[in-house]
Amino acid sequence: MDFELKSLLPAEAAALPCDALLVLVPEALAPELAPGSLHELLAAVMRDGDLEPGVGKTLACYRVAGIQASRVLLVRAGDATPAAVRKAVAAGVAQLKQPGVKKIALLLSLIDADGAAVRAAMQACAEASYSYTHTKPSAKARAVQQVLLGVADAARVQADFAFGKALVTGVELAKEWANRPANHATPSALAQVAIQCGRKAGFKTDVLGLKEVTALGMGALLAVAQGSAQPLRFIVMRYQGAARSSAPVVLVGKGITFDTGGISLKPAAEMDEMKFDMAGAASVLGVFAALAEWRPALNVVGLIPSCENMPDAQAIKPGDVVTSMSGQTIEILNTDAEGRLILCDALSYAARFKPRSLIDVATLTGACVVALGAVRSGLFSAHEELAQALQQAGETALDPCWRLPLDDEYAEALKSNFADLGNVGGRPAGAITAAKFLQKFTADLPWAHLDIAGCAWKSGASKGATGRPVPLLLHYLRDEAARAAAATEPPPAAAGRKRAAKTP
Ligand code: BES
Ligand code: MN
Ligand code: ZN
Repeated sequence: MDFELKSLLPAEAAALPCDALLVLVPEALAPELAPGSLHELLAAVMRDGDLEPGVGKTLACYRVAGIQASRVLLVRAGDATPAAVRKAVAAGVAQLKQPGVKKIALLLSLIDADGAAVRAAMQACAEASYSYTHTKPSAKARAVQQVLLGVADAARVQADFAFGKALVTGVELAKEWANRPANHATPSALAQVAIQCGRKAGFKTDVLGLKEVTALGMGALLAVAQGSAQPLRFIVMRYQGAARSSAPVVLVGKGITFDTGGISLKPAAEMDEMKFDMAGAASVLGVFAALAEWRPALNVVGLIPSCENMPDAQAIKPGDVVTSMSGQTIEILNTDAEGRLILCDALSYAARFKPRSLIDVATLTGACVVALGAVRSGLFSAHEELAQALQQAGETALDPCWRLPLDDEYAEALKSNFADLGNVGGRPAGAITAAKFLQKFTADLPWAHLDIAGCAWKSGASKGATGRPVPLLLHYLRDEAARAAAATEPPPAAAGRKRAAKTP
């Protein structure tokens, strides 16, 4: 999907050659609206009360005199907050799915859209027009190819526009790969995506296999992978946007390409949805696809432990004890608690990068779905600053999360008579005990865990991946890049002298 940004007065929008003109209409229309065909149309519609109030309410007009585009769609944008803009644009674009609508002009100047609103509009455009075709050739492919965003002052929102474009790329890649079935999205296929992404952007990608992972002593990852005919992969991606000496943000994504539960087999109903159990990995791939385009001044490392969780003659059995890379032994009481097993070795591996922050993203527990549903991801961190930064990023990105506690008492449940710890803690507080398990592998690093089990995909008629939490992660990285830049700026005294010297 191709986006273009342009300073555009409402009067100029009428003359734009495009297949459809989508006009976002604010709650209160400015009376000083410049005269012209669009103004006349809006004035008449408002007078007659034909555009119902309510965000996302639309009125479709066809062949309006004086307007170039044959289709004009008026959409109510309410108070024009980013959330309202997203809802309005999604409603509008969903109505423009005719095959003839390839180029849309989106008029955002009546609502005086700021950077956040522009980003929200772009995301909604992509979301509402996405179509999965990879294994369904009969599906209608996306018709909309080009979107022109008309704003009051393009220069003012240029940075957000560039960031928004990268964000859409990232979300779409994450969605696409999470949607692909497990026989198409294998660990090796994910590694290929990472390699391609790195090649395009000129960053380093290492793919470790059985031999390397064995040499590293990743006994927990090996244990989960041993029941599958698909070879495991451990993917290491490195984006370098800042000085070598600058500590990276390390992102870890759970890459279980299919979770049967293993010998602790899951019930048949909805088991197909366990193809989405690599949504955390897909979100890390999405972030890297975005980084390739956006190129912030920050170092970021992406780690993806990836394998299938299968029942097999070779598979791990309940009660088996394995030794993780950290040296801690784990009693695998339930083979369906496999995510934490592959993640714990990745978290140990992450320490070598001396991260400024370490964030894992995983479809980890059904308990998190029960706690927070599909609205907010679960956020866990003992690091106050990091927790607040992620929470804030989630709000700004319209991809929210909610912090849950990590009291040490919750770790009691992980005690084992036969190993340093067990991999499950019973039914109570399942999302928290899973997080406590991971925490035991993070030493004193500034670590956070996002449980995305509830929000990474939708079930039912609109079954499909959401691309979350790519927006949250990218907003966090944007804030982090700004913080890193501020920290390396010259001290205020020196800057003051410089300015003083320039004054005549
Ligand atoms: N991938 C699942 C978590 C999951 C379940 C995500 C349902 C989305 C929807 C994970 O590997 C798992 O099976 N977790 C178990 C843990 C339990 C055995 C302690 C769960 O949540 O049931
Ligand atoms: Mn499982
Ligand atoms: Zn799983």
